[in-house]
Amino acid sequence: MPDLQQLRAEAEAAIGAAERASELEDLRVRYLGRKSELTQTLRSIGELPPEQRGPVGKQANEVRRALEALLGRRTAELEAAELDRRLAEDRVDITLPGDPPLPAGHLHLVSQIRRRMEDIFLGLGFSVVEGPEVEYEYYNFTALNHPPEHPARLPQDTFYLAERVLLRTHTSPMQIRAMELQQPPIYIVVPGRVYRPDTPDATHVPMFHQLEGLAVDEDITLADLQGCLLQFARQMFGEDTKVRLRPGYFPFTEPSVEVDVSCFRCGGSGFVADERCPTCKGEGWIEILGSGMVDPNVLDYVAANGYDNERVQGFAWGMGIERIAMLVYEVPDLRMLFENDLRLLDQFGAGP
Ligand code: DAH
Repeated sequence: MPDLQQLRAEAEAAIGAAERASELEDLRVRYLGRKSELTQTLRSIGELPPEQRGPVGKQANEVRRALEALLGRRTAELEAAELDRRLAEDRVDITLPGDPPLPAGHLHLVSQIRRRMEDIFLGLGFSVVEGPEVEYEYYNFTALNHPPEHPARLPQDTFYLAERVLLRTHTSPMQIRAMELQQPPIYIVVPGRVYRPDTPDATHVPMFHQLEGLAVDEDITLADLQGCLLQFARQMFGEDTKVRLRPGYFPFTEPSVEVDVSCFRCGGSGFVADERCPTCKGEGWIEILGSGMVDPNVLDYVAANGYDNERVQGFAWGMGIERIAMLVYEVPDLRMLFENDLRLLDQFGAGP
């Protein structure tokens, strides 16, 4: 016959010292389970002498109830403490920065270059304007002095949307639109998308970006064109850059010139460490744009708005933004600028 009071004291001490709900489960089995001393005692009461059965049974049941109550209280206490602990541990401070902090991201290379170009020409006194990508044949070709039989008008070279409506093949139509809206003098640059039915390869894609420029004023000469583009080239490619004009042909300029800049990679020597310079292919010069003096025939289309070709002259140019981005960032294939592979884009993350 176990000493029930001693058993009770021992069990109460163990329950009081338990620190986890799982320990309490073990103690419940140990003191109240089927094989516990207490249960065995209650089961074998019938074997006791009759005068002991009442008092022992009563005492054993008392101990049982006391231990059950204590286990219940202790379980509730520990569960509450456990919940408090988890809540404290799992607390998230939503005012902290994310971990790891997300990179801020940056503009696409083409946008970075476009913005740099805009900034340079803003500094030279030009305004930035934009125009429609869906354009009339009139603005894209006719008013830019393309004769009706000019091959660029053919559907092989131009996406037509309707009879006289097309996707602009260059940003030049904005020359006419801007002059219709604003009397001389005018100094504008026009960035934007242009479209041509080209099969994609390393240097062609059917949609790309140009930046057009137009300056019309009194006493404008080819020297102004050269000086303006020299300033641009120095700021874009480096202070030592030179520019070179070569004769060219465009229907809307007369004379027309192709503009080259001295190679910013090899300094114009054509060599990098005794090897042929990969940027200018050993030429020392890189063609960057088409340009010229605005053809008087073009001014005639806007003569009614003050563009008297006896009184004002102008120069204009158009350059490919992707082409400049490829040169500056040494991107070998034009298509890479449209694939949006983050491995390429992240190499040039330090942009505005
Ligand atoms: N629009 C021409 C092209 O896409 C580029 C160009 C050449 C623009 C001469 C001009 C210019 O304004 O004067 O090839």
